[in-house]
Amino acid sequence: MGQGFFIAGTDTGVGKTMVAAAVAAWLRAAGYDVGVMKPIHTGCRHPGTRQPPPDTALLMRAAGVRDPLELVTPYRLRQPLSPLAAARAEGGRIDPRRLRAAYRALADRHEIVLVEGSGGLLVPVTATATMADLIRAWGLIVILVARAGLGTLNHTLLSIEAARRRRLTVGGILLNHTRPPSGSRDPSATGNAALLRELTGLPVIGPLPYVAGLQRRDARAWRRWLTATRGGRARPAGRDSVRRLLDRCGLAPPARR
Ligand SMILES: Nc1ncnc2c1ncn2[C@@H]1O[C@H](COP(=O)(O)OP(=O)(O)OP(=O)(O)O)[C@@H](O)[C@H]1O
Ligand SMILES: [Mg+2]
Repeated sequence: MGQGFFIAGTDTGVGKTMVAAAVAAWLRAAGYDVGVMKPIHTGCRHPGTRQPPPDTALLMRAAGVRDPLELVTPYRLRQPLSPLAAARAEGGRIDPRRLRAAYRALADRHEIVLVEGSGGLLVPVTATATMADLIRAWGLIVILVARAGLGTLNHTLLSIEAARRRRLTVGGILLNHTRPPSGSRDPSATGNAALLRELTGLPVIGPLPYVAGLQRRDARAWRRWLTATRGGRARPAGRDSVRRLLDRCGLAPPARR
C-alpha cells in the first residue's frame, strides 16, 4: 500500500488543488508513481457524466494518471455546499465505506496518493463524521494549506490544534498568496511563515507567490512555483523547504532534483 497525504485547507479556495497539483508534479519528476483523489467534489456542473469535475481533472493531469473517475472522485455533487449538505440536498448521504474502498484501491495502485479535502478539517461528511475522521481512519499525513496574509495565524493554529487533538500526523504547512498583490502592503505576509514555524514546530513553506493563470500552466511551472518561494523580502528557500517537508512526511526524493 502506498503512503497517503491529505491536502487540507484552512478554508475553501486557499489553493489546495494548486498545491496538490504542484506536489504531484514535483514527486512525479522525482520518480514517484503518484495517485490523486478528490473524494467528494461539490458544486459539479455535470455530476452524472463521465466528465471529471475541475479539481479532479487538474489533479489527474498533474499526476499523469488515468484512474477511473469512480475511484478518484466517487461522490460528485451538484450543490456548492459542504459534502453533508450537498448530499442531503440530493436526498442522499455519503457512505464513508465507499470512500475508503476507493482510497484503498488507489493506494494499491500507486506509491503515493495525494487526497484533496473539501474545505477544512472539520467540514462534515456525514452527520457523525468529518474530514478529519476520514484522515484518521485512512492513516493519512496532513499537509495544511493556508492563506498567506493577515488572519492566517488564527485559522492555521485552529486547524493545527484540531488536527493534534485528533492525533493526526501533520507533515507541514504551506502559505499561499491566492490574490494578486494589492496596493496596500500587508506586513504580516513576510513574518507569518517564521511565526508559524516557531509556534507549531512544523516545517512551513511560503509564502508561495501569486501567479496569474496558474491553473492553466504546466507541470514545470507548478514545480517552479512550489520551489521558488518569494514573498516580500522572504529569502528564496523553496527547494530545500519542500524537501524538508516531504522528508518529514517520510519521503526523500532523490537528490538529483
Ligand atoms: N498562488 C496562486 N496564484 C494564482 N492563482 C492561485 C494561486 N493559488 C490559487 N490560485 C487560484 O485560486 C483559486 C482557488 O485555488 P484552488 O482551487 O487551488 O483552491 P482550493 O482550496 O482547492 O478550493 P476548493 O475548496 O474549491 O477546492 C483557483 O482559481 C486557483 O487557480
Ligand atoms: Mg480544490
